[in-house]
Amino acid sequence: MSSGSWSANETELLRVGALKYGSDFEALAGLFADKSPSECQRKLEEITARKQQQQSPVAAAPAASTVSGVSSGGAPPGSIIPAAGISGMAKLLFVTAKLHSRNLLSQEEKRILKQLAIRSDPALNSIDMNSEQFLTQLIDLASARAITAASHTYNFLYQQCSTNHGKTLSKQERKSKGITDNSFVYGEIDFHSFAQIIKHLRPLIKPDGVFVDLGSGTGRPCIAMALLSDMQRIVGIEYLSDLVTASRQVLEQYETFVESDAVEVEDDDNADDDDEQQQEQPPAGKDSTKQTPSTPGTAGKKKKIVHSPLTKLERAAEAQRKGQGQRSNSIDAGAPGNLPLAKRIEFLQGDFLEIDWSHADFVFLNSTCYSPALMTAISAKAELLRPGALVVSLTKPLLPSSTDKFELLSKQKYQMSWGSATAYVQKRR
Ligand SMILES: C[S@@+](CC[C@H](N)C(=O)[O-])C[C@H]1O[C@@H](n2cnc3c(N)ncnc32)[C@H](O)[C@@H]1O
Repeated sequence: MSSGSWSANETELLRVGALKYGSDFEALAGLFADKSPSECQRKLEEITARKQQQQSPVAAAPAASTVSGVSSGGAPPGSIIPAAGISGMAKLLFVTAKLHSRNLLSQEEKRILKQLAIRSDPALNSIDMNSEQFLTQLIDLASARAITAASHTYNFLYQQCSTNHGKTLSKQERKSKGITDNSFVYGEIDFHSFAQIIKHLRPLIKPDGVFVDLGSGTGRPCIAMALLSDMQRIVGIEYLSDLVTASRQVLEQYETFVESDAVEVEDDDNADDDDEQQQEQPPAGKDSTKQTPSTPGTAGKKKKIVHSPLTKLERAAEAQRKGQGQRSNSIDAGAPGNLPLAKRIEFLQGDFLEIDWSHADFVFLNSTCYSPALMTAISAKAELLRPGALVVSLTKPLLPSSTDKFELLSKQKYQMSWGSATAYVQKRR
């Protein structure tokens, strides 16, 4: 990823721009976000010439070496820049815009950093803008704040739907339907571990992409994804209908307490895993690798969303116009990126082996209890994904037909609700 360092040229542009434009610099940062240093240089010269025609000489201010310098000093009379330190804020705003344009910050993280900068928040005092770790520190700060805020919302949304509740619903329905396949054993992600996975993958996640959770349970990964990312379309597929109902109830709460606020906001590893036994105790005497032929899967500002300015009613009308509600066996029922907000998150009831998720950009599966046969079947479907698509599987990696289908980007242990699990990050070649 390209979060490395700024070139001397870019740094100089930042400094010069900050000194010249003060609070105008945020707009300037937006202009420069995707441009090369030479384009920035040219643009800066153009703007400089225009400014010089418009106004009297600009008072120069020394560049601050730390972000904490933002609030220091007053504005010299006649200057368009408050004195010492403004370059700290301007640099911060510029860098924030740039990190966001490079997919290193989510919209929410960008908003948080902007707010911290504008408030000259003391949290910034420890960040040394001249240090090599500057960018990493900024990303970590924004990410920690965003994760904390999202976890409060997440906990609120799940207060009536505990992990034990999910386990109970799952057990009851499996019993009543005679499902003995241990691929249906229930377990849930841990929010903070999931958030770390998302943070780690941020530069690879397409903000306007499609996320799919294969076996979504009560919807936790989908809701977490919605709170932690800018992904435009988030779909959970779950076979057990009582779990789907529970996930839709949480989604209703999400839409009431999260989305309704959103429209008002501006802006912008294997053997050593201890999870399989603990995710949920499999029914006594059952072999987790055995399949039951008749069951599916045996085939071999508070929180803001900035995706749509539509009000809830407008979104509902829009969704109706586009025929929302008609179930399709494809999650690509709308064009990704153009979906009304009402369709951002959806929970489908069905067998994920019978639903087309080939358009997904990011597929997650909490596959700790999935049988080898199910992993093989999922892997065959995953080979239909586009190059670059990500597949994160817990405890078990994909079993593709050949090694040239997927690249293993990383495998790392995380704590989950039942113990530790390895997350395998695989990318379609
Ligand atoms: C371990 S739970 C994961 C729940 C959720 N993804 C999470 O991590 O919090 C796996 C879920 O996959 C579901 N499942 C298993 N095989 C399935 C299939 N073929 N189609 C749809 N859902 C399936 C199970 O019912 C179970 O709820």
